[in-house]
Amino acid sequence: MENPFGYGGVVGHGSFCNRTQELADLQEMMLSGSRCFVYAERRMGKTSLVLKALSRLSAKSCLPVYIDLWPTDGPTSFAVNTARALSLVSETRAGRMLELAKALFGRLRPSVTMDDAGKPNVQFGVDNTTLKKVDLAEVLQAPQELANRTKKKVIVVFDEFQQILQYGDDLVERQIRSSIQQHKNVSYVFLGSRKHLMQDMFLDQSRPLYRSAAHYPLGPIATSHWQPFIASRFRKADKKIDKQQITELCSRTEGHPFYTQHLCHVLWSTTESGGAVDDASINKAVDELLRRESHAYVTLWESLTRNEQRLLRGLANSESPPKPFSSDFTRQYGLRTSSNSQRAAESLLRKDVIDRESSSFVIVDRFLRLWIRALS
Ligand SMILES: Nc1ncnc2c1ncn2[C@@H]1O[C@H](COP(=O)(O)OP(=O)(O)OP(=O)(O)O)[C@@H](O)[C@H]1O
Ligand SMILES: [Mg+2]
Repeated sequence: MENPFGYGGVVGHGSFCNRTQELADLQEMMLSGSRCFVYAERRMGKTSLVLKALSRLSAKSCLPVYIDLWPTDGPTSFAVNTARALSLVSETRAGRMLELAKALFGRLRPSVTMDDAGKPNVQFGVDNTTLKKVDLAEVLQAPQELANRTKKKVIVVFDEFQQILQYGDDLVERQIRSSIQQHKNVSYVFLGSRKHLMQDMFLDQSRPLYRSAAHYPLGPIATSHWQPFIASRFRKADKKIDKQQITELCSRTEGHPFYTQHLCHVLWSTTESGGAVDDASINKAVDELLRRESHAYVTLWESLTRNEQRLLRGLANSESPPKPFSSDFTRQYGLRTSSNSQRAAESLLRKDVIDRESSSFVIVDRFLRLWIRALS
């Protein structure tokens, strides 16, 4: 029997846990022509959630466009990837696709080729030296054009949006701002990790996209929702896990989807059919996971300053959200002053080891958190 817990990659219908409220909220935003910025830590389930929300929209009245900005490195690849995604969702036949691409993105000099499976693909004859601001403006006007032509709501999702911070200048940010302001019947969803960078982009007054989208922070999945999801998957394989153990497991991973699935994956595979999960088997599964990661964790740990290590120990060992700049915290973990603590936090944020969470911080990698707890 195949392991029912998957981690890494997008989760589809069969292995999607809850998120009913989030799906309803997103769907409402998608249908209302709004702009929304969904942010969360890495692997919290952003892509899975948004793709599921898009798949539930009516094909009759909506045109969903998903653009992954991960492979882009500047305005040209941004323009080309966006134009390609818009062309591919709008037309499936080569001739019509070329016609549409020429009408919407004539400046990018489109051509259509067939791949080995006979599916049309669209290419563009621009490169970094030839792309102009007006070309970018033409691409960003296209969603509105499509909404007008098709009489459908167009929903544009930019995934890995923080990638545009790597482009070298803010041309794309500025052009997005000025293009999308007037769009009607077009919704925009910006998805991003590296929460602090994304927040800077939308909350810093000096940035072009300042306050241009509603905020939607995506958090972990509650234990009450993991309970039936995990229990039923063990039950189907005649493996027993009770409520208390699921609660324990979720407290180790803090309900973070990726780490919860990963731990369940190991626990499921180390439990025999007919057997039962107990506290010892959870500990064993966690030990196994930490052993696999230990080389990377040791390397990371040794690269950190003493104060960074102290701050991480404090964060890892606190049950409720800690106040890392308080005198209690700095005294208990040997940081001595709040400015030492602040400097360590800023450096760990830059390295993406921690992220902001309400008025505190979380260790992004939940298994690193457990590894640090085991140190002391
Ligand atoms: N609703 C869910 N139910 C169950 N597991 C989930 C859910 N959402 C995410 N996961 C788990 O988390 C993993 C990462 O999901 P996904 O790729 O959607 O996250 P992401 O936030 O887009 O990640 P990245 O930061 O790498 O882009 C999945 O492979 C799966 O193990
Ligand atoms: Mg993703």
